[in-house]
Amino acid sequence: MTNPLTHAEILGWLMEEDHGRLESLWTRADQTRRAHVGDDVHLRGLIEVSSFCRRQCAYCGLRAGNRGLARYRMEMGEIVGAARQALSLGFGTVVLQGGEDPGLRKDFVTDTIRAIKAETGLAVTLSLGERSMEELGAWRAAGADRYLLRFETSDRSLFDMIHPGVGRARADRIGALKQIKRLGYETGSGVRVGLPGQTYESLARDIELFRELDLDMIGIGPFIPHKDTPLGQLPAEHELLVQGEVPRGAMMAYKVVALARRMCPHANMPATTALATINKVDGRELALQRGANVVMPNLTPPKYRKLYEIYPDKANVDAVTAGANDALHDMLKRLGRRAGAGPGSARRDAPMPSGRENEEKNLTTNLKEAA
Ligand code: 5AD
Repeated sequence: MTNPLTHAEILGWLMEEDHGRLESLWTRADQTRRAHVGDDVHLRGLIEVSSFCRRQCAYCGLRAGNRGLARYRMEMGEIVGAARQALSLGFGTVVLQGGEDPGLRKDFVTDTIRAIKAETGLAVTLSLGERSMEELGAWRAAGADRYLLRFETSDRSLFDMIHPGVGRARADRIGALKQIKRLGYETGSGVRVGLPGQTYESLARDIELFRELDLDMIGIGPFIPHKDTPLGQLPAEHELLVQGEVPRGAMMAYKVVALARRMCPHANMPATTALATINKVDGRELALQRGANVVMPNLTPPKYRKLYEIYPDKANVDAVTAGANDALHDMLKRLGRRAGAGPGSARRDAPMPSGRENEEKNLTTNLKEAA
């Protein structure tokens, strides 16, 4: 394991503005990436299965309060069809992502996972929000391999402000991640960088938390304001201005990507769509050169694309054409990389931190209990 950076070092890098010195951050992150996860870039086909959401997140265009948006939920046949497409494009994984949609019933998701596994054998990642232990256990037992749930920010009061609970319960994503891990899922999380009120201090803490949670996957994207959301309506020089607030934009997100790679050398880290959206020229390429090793091309059927508007302009990034797939492979080649074969699971060849073996025994027991 590489030596973790100290809190002060992380803070120092987050505040660094000298381009020459930042070059050395990018180089170290790229070296760490190559040494621990190699030159393979894993391709995950993203299927946005439902745009219904019961949450009221202040940043997200899919929030329940956004009445102007027509909602959709894909049929099982459509989802399995998109998974077949992922297989034919040579991808090793599909990611079923949706709003937190109670209409995505436990049994529907279970049957969909089984059908995808039976027909394609692909690794299945779920990203369906905060779901019950019963659902998570059933989906794991049906063969789901991975679960993504971003904690978004480790700053509890900022989180509560932007991610209100449903009913009286406060959301507890960090607790949920621990449960997800205990069920034996490869576990992914991440943050959004440049939120109003987000400080350097809390961002440094986020990066330390990636390591403490021992994440298998880490997704990092810049905050992109959406006009139909509370955070999208704040004036540019908003009034919540907090001392030590991080600036918005791609640069800060790249710093977090590079530092996360240094802290979590084995994690799978996507060059996120949000980065590709705010920097259409080379947002994705730069992320891949600064620590990232995964790309998630969008396989959502075109008719649903525009309706899954988490943030603006997202639908225009990489259409599902054969041409787009060729362009992606050309881009990887240019960077001296290649598409990874197989499921591309997070490697665990480093010695396990102590206590992990016991934890794994508990996982099996918990899984049996949950199923
Ligand atoms: N800007 C950037 N990313 C966002 N997400 C949701 N809303 C926004 C926004 N306004 C992110 C969430 C989610 C991922 C799919 O998109 O972090 O995990």
